[in-house]
Order: sequence, then structure tokens, then C-alpha cells
Amino acid sequence: MSDYYSPVAEFYDLVARTHGEGELKLRERLRLLDPAGGPVLDIGAGTGRTTLAVAETVPDVEILAVEPAPAMRAMLMNMVVRDPALSRRVTVIAEPVENLTLPERLGAVIAYGVLGHLDFEARQRLWRSLLPRLSSGAPIFVELLPIEKPMQLPTLPLASATIGRRSYTATLDGEPGEGDIMRLTSTWVTTGGPSPPQTIRNTSIWHTFGLDDLARETGLRAERLSQQAGVLYV
Ligand SMILES: C[S@@+](CC[C@H](N)C(=O)[O-])C[C@H]1O[C@@H](n2cnc3c(N)ncnc32)[C@H](O)[C@@H]1O
Repeated sequence: MSDYYSPVAEFYDLVARTHGEGELKLRERLRLLDPAGGPVLDIGAGTGRTTLAVAETVPDVEILAVEPAPAMRAMLMNMVVRDPALSRRVTVIAEPVENLTLPERLGAVIAYGVLGHLDFEARQRLWRSLLPRLSSGAPIFVELLPIEKPMQLPTLPLASATIGRRSYTATLDGEPGEGDIMRLTSTWVTTGGPSPPQTIRNTSIWHTFGLDDLARETGLRAERLSQQAGVLYV
């Protein structure tokens, strides 16, 4: 598994995702979840945004937060250890999801921003392992890029923030690769304060598909929650 996230992990939370529509819809649906269904699996938990959304909306449920990128996991772990309630409920897992022996029952799965890093075969293996473990009615929440076919993307603004004396500006570029692949490059320019300007470029690979493709792959029904988020269920 390639680690696309550690080189730019320090910038991850400067992109305004928190309280975006995908997260608000996720929280709305999680409030309806029966905690008795079993642990919630957060695949690609990142710096903890989705893990926190589960913890704050589903009382007492156990959370398995899977995050293989060391720098992202360091931030996730920091969030968990600072809160005794989270430390009791959240297990942080360093292996990629495809290497795990999952618990027999899962009450829900969150896969926000991650499934496009798995190719078709890896997703098939994931579904074979996940689907038999889902408790009755357990939802799989997904957030995807709104790009269903490889294409040339114009340069898009990604983030703009000032932290102390430093200003951070990021853009995103995308170009088609082989097959279903998009090559996404984020460029982070940091200026100001006592250190010289810095530019960091980071390229990752995203396999393009849409919510309907996931419904076909899993045999589940799909409901769109926002432009980028959706839920799959029996
Ligand atoms: C875009 S981030 C999403 C973080 C978080 N879910 C959110 O929405 O803020 C995707 C995360 O998935 C992780 N990831 C990539 N491949 C993975 C895999 N095979 N298994 C588990 N996590 C993976 C990456 O390390 C990264 O932190």
C-alpha cells in the first residue's frame, strides 16, 4: 500500500472538511444507529474527523479506527489519548484494512475519502470480508471524489489558511492515468514568519467510480447523502 498522506499530513486539517455537507449528513444518519449492532469500523480514519463524528453521535459504541499512514495516525492517536472517553472506546489500528481479521459483527462502516485508493480487486476482497459481518441493516457510509471517469482537472483551490505568522495556500491538479486512474497532485505553498517560503507537491492515485458502481459491486442499495457522500445498505 502506498502512503500518499504522510508527506502532507501536517496540512490535512487545513482543508475545510469539518462540518462540510458530507460530515453533517454522516452525523445525521449516525444519530439513528443502534449501538447494539456491534463496533463501528472507520476505514482510513485519517486525523480523526470521522472517528470523532461516530464518537459524538453514537453513545458508547466501540470504534475501530484503521489508519495505516504513520503521520496521520499520530494525529489520530493524539486526539484519542487526550480524551479518556475516546481512549476507552477507540482502538487505533495501523494495518491497511485489507490485512485485518475483522470482528464477527459490525454495526456500521465508515469509508470516507478512502475507497478510491483501492483498485477493483482490492475492493472485491474488502466486500467479501465486510459484507458477511454486517449486522442486520448496518450501513456503509462512503465519501468519494465527484469524479467518476478519469479526466483533466483544471487547477482548483484546495485550502487557504493563516496559522500564526505562516500562510498556507494549496491547489489541486488532476490528470488521467491508466484505466480508471486519476493522478491527483496537491501543491502546498507556505510563506511568512522567520523561515523561507516552502513548496511541497504530493501526488496520489485515485481509482474513479461512483456510488452506483459501489452498489453493483456490493449488491447493496445506495442512497446519495450529498454530492460526494452516500450510504449503502441491504
Ligand atoms: C482522505 S483521508 C480520509 C480521512 C478521514 N476519513 C476523513 O474523511 O477526514 C484517507 C485516509 O485513508 C487512508 N488509507 C489509504 N489506504 C488505506 C487502506 N488500504 N486501509 C485503510 N486506510 C487507508 C489514508 O492513509 C488516509 O489517511
